[in-house]
Amino acid sequence: VLRVDVARPVAEIQPTMWGVFFEDINFGADGGIYAEMVKNRSFEFFKPLMGWKVDGKKRTEGDVLVQNRGDEKSSNPRYLRVTTNGAVAGDLSLTNEGFRGMGIKKGLRYDFAVLYGYPSAGKVTMQLNLLNAQNEVIGTGTLSPDATASADRDGQWHKAQVSFTATATEPKGKLRIGLEGTGVIDLDMISLFPEDTWKGRPGGMRADMVQMLADLKPGFVRFPGGCIVEGHDLEQRYQWKKTLGPIEDRQLLINRWNFEFGHRPAPDYFQTFGLGFLEYFQLCEDIGAAPLPILNCGMACQFNTAELVPMSQIDPYVQDALDLIEFANGDVSTQWGKVRAGLGHPKPFNLKMMGVGNENWGPQYIERLAVFQKAIKAKYPDFKLICSSGTDPNGDRFDYLNGNLRAMNADLIDEHYYRRPEWFLQNVGRYDSYPRNGSKVFAGEWAAQSDDVAKPTNKNNWQCALSEAAFMTGLERNAAVVQMASYAPLFANADGWQWTPDLIWVDNLHVYGTPNYYVQQLYSRNKGTNVLSMTANGQALAGKDSLYASAAWDKAASEIILKMVNVSGKSVNRTVQLDGAKKLARTGTVMLLTNDKLDAVNSFENATAVSPVEQQIPVDSNKKTVAMMLAPRSLSVVRI
Ligand code: AHR
Repeated sequence: VLRVDVARPVAEIQPTMWGVFFEDINFGADGGIYAEMVKNRSFEFFKPLMGWKVDGKKRTEGDVLVQNRGDEKSSNPRYLRVTTNGAVAGDLSLTNEGFRGMGIKKGLRYDFAVLYGYPSAGKVTMQLNLLNAQNEVIGTGTLSPDATASADRDGQWHKAQVSFTATATEPKGKLRIGLEGTGVIDLDMISLFPEDTWKGRPGGMRADMVQMLADLKPGFVRFPGGCIVEGHDLEQRYQWKKTLGPIEDRQLLINRWNFEFGHRPAPDYFQTFGLGFLEYFQLCEDIGAAPLPILNCGMACQFNTAELVPMSQIDPYVQDALDLIEFANGDVSTQWGKVRAGLGHPKPFNLKMMGVGNENWGPQYIERLAVFQKAIKAKYPDFKLICSSGTDPNGDRFDYLNGNLRAMNADLIDEHYYRRPEWFLQNVGRYDSYPRNGSKVFAGEWAAQSDDVAKPTNKNNWQCALSEAAFMTGLERNAAVVQMASYAPLFANADGWQWTPDLIWVDNLHVYGTPNYYVQQLYSRNKGTNVLSMTANGQALAGKDSLYASAAWDKAASEIILKMVNVSGKSVNRTVQLDGAKKLARTGTVMLLTNDKLDAVNSFENATAVSPVEQQIPVDSNKKTVAMMLAPRSLSVVRI
């Protein structure tokens, strides 16, 4: 018999308990959730024409030149100068290959836009063609930029746009721009977006990917990473102020994951920041999640250059943090609140927390963090800071950091663990002995690994997901200590990943949730408000007979929530006694996630092979018991 003490909740469960970790890794942002289809739209990649092909029957030397304005426009120095000399169809074209192709959907509208200027008199017409993988035309538009607009004359660039509809569906499409007429035209920010973005916002996000996040009902979204916060070196660190305003002014950066890591080199991986900090905050607001930005603490990635800013020069980093709080929360009379309002969001975002550093360690980290802590707490005493404890949950580095962070009264300590499924089962009780007072824990990045990180053989299989489900009973039981948790990484593009496993997989047209996704979803949507004690012979159920369990009370719904995991290959029967329950319904609901094969996975072809099914279960409301048959290799979430 398992006893649940319904009358005496043991701890609160924070609304932020289960959240998501977003990073532009695996083409999660550019080439992923940011719906821009043109790769290298502003010619700022390290090779200016990467992603582009210049073609035609009558091309001549110099008819397409990359111009570089250098410091005159340091955020976006390059553009294309195209010369057409009586060009007709087929004479000259530019073709963009997209991010591993472009996903094109039949009947959907596509919005093309370009910045242009005529340095001299002339008239150039653009014939736009969507192409399928066989180079057949599956969508057509025409654009005749106004020939009187001269960048040289008025010092301005002009925007031209046209929309057209695709006639066929294609996963690996391209965009061809035929250039016709006589003249010289300058082109920049060549862009193509689908009509069906999230909330129909022009220049917005892929709706199917955002929907997957919304369906999790996450308590928070951590952004923008991960290692990309740190950068290869400090020059290439993430700087939120550079991600605001007109997209043509957002200075692009080489992505920290643009290198041969694991098995998929990505020389074409850059951050254009079309998904910038305003958009991240907006995303959080849209899906009802608390924003959790992470900022660079004056240290570059310690797995790379380990570059440090000298302590004498740390002030701008700290100022960035203070300004971000004002940007998110300040009213329009403040400098940064005014900036936010000017960007179209006068309402504050109610930011309550921020991470300082990601996976940074050593005395250098503690020294830098202390400066942030002092400055931020002086101005915003209730603001919570998330502090890094590195990547080694059982090692000396962790002990050193944890000791120091506790001593400095860190609000939350960010622990990361990418480990085998066995580690997760063995560590279900990890937080049972953590002190209840002082610093809390943010389990900020973790995922069970079926093989070494980033190997193609490292799978999101049911064994990994099941071990995570068991581990999460331990997190929930210890909600007095663990206040936030997020699986990582979140997204992966099947054609462009650097890291496995990942919670949600996408290609240009589709998206599916892994078994791990459904585990996260079951926890997040059935979070409850208070931990209840659930014991077998007075002990928490944490591995005995291969069973793991936790219980919660949901104040708003007046419901008891049980989470029970059976990792054995046999079904197990247990009676759950609901001690102290005042009045019980005669039936409860069970959401069952199970598969008899530990190597079972979801896929584009079978997206819901491992996904929850809902059943009703009888409850003995007189005896206050429920008889549970726990299927082999299963997670059961019960609401009564
Ligand atoms: O989640 C992938 C990477 O793992 C993150 O960028 C980093 O923080 C960790 O090492």
